[in-house]
Amino acid sequence: MPQSLLALSYFFHLIATVVWIGGLVTLTVFIWPETKRILAENLALYSLMTRWRKRFVPLTNFSLVVLVFTGFVQMAGDPNYDGVLQISNEWSRVMLLKHLAIAGMVVCGLVLQYGVTPALERASLLLERGKGDPTEWERLRRREVRLTWLNVVLGVTVLGFTAWATAI
Ligand code: HEM
Repeated sequence: MPQSLLALSYFFHLIATVVWIGGLVTLTVFIWPETKRILAENLALYSLMTRWRKRFVPLTNFSLVVLVFTGFVQMAGDPNYDGVLQISNEWSRVMLLKHLAIAGMVVCGLVLQYGVTPALERASLLLERGKGDPTEWERLRRREVRLTWLNVVLGVTVLGFTAWATAI
């Protein structure tokens, strides 16, 4: 495989990593703890959080596509790689564990995108109009935070398995 293609693949693989994992960490460690503190006093924040989600979610979906595509290029270019589903050495076992952690991230993302987020945005809209049930909103919000933190833990696990694979 031409070295330039592998370098380009690693470049986009790393950019996609920064966007997805970096975005998850920024939301959970920096943005949400602060918004939670002032949310009760400022209803307009509901729509701001909705706008953040609408900006971040398509980026994470696109990052996943880039990671899968460049990931297969990198696998094909790695001397440890013995072919599709050929778990024949330590590197391919670690790559399998990495893929399992990524599958967990995809499931979390789907539950958030098609389950929790639509309901949370409906509840936010009703609250902004003074009609909603704050406890229902709080319940959905806690679910969103828990699932996103699970995604952060899985993302860090993916990086851990990657470091292990790179060291082999
Ligand atoms: C959440 C998804 C993913 C994240 C955060 C991620 C992250 C990374 C990072 C940071 C590297 C290190 C690059 C370097 O050494 O410069 C890497 C390497 C790699 N990734 Fe991923 N990746 C993800 C998904 C995937 C997928 C889906 C595949 C395969 C289809 C894949 C296959 C690889 C391979 C083969 C390497 C090279 C490992 C080695 O050097 O031995 N990755 N990944």
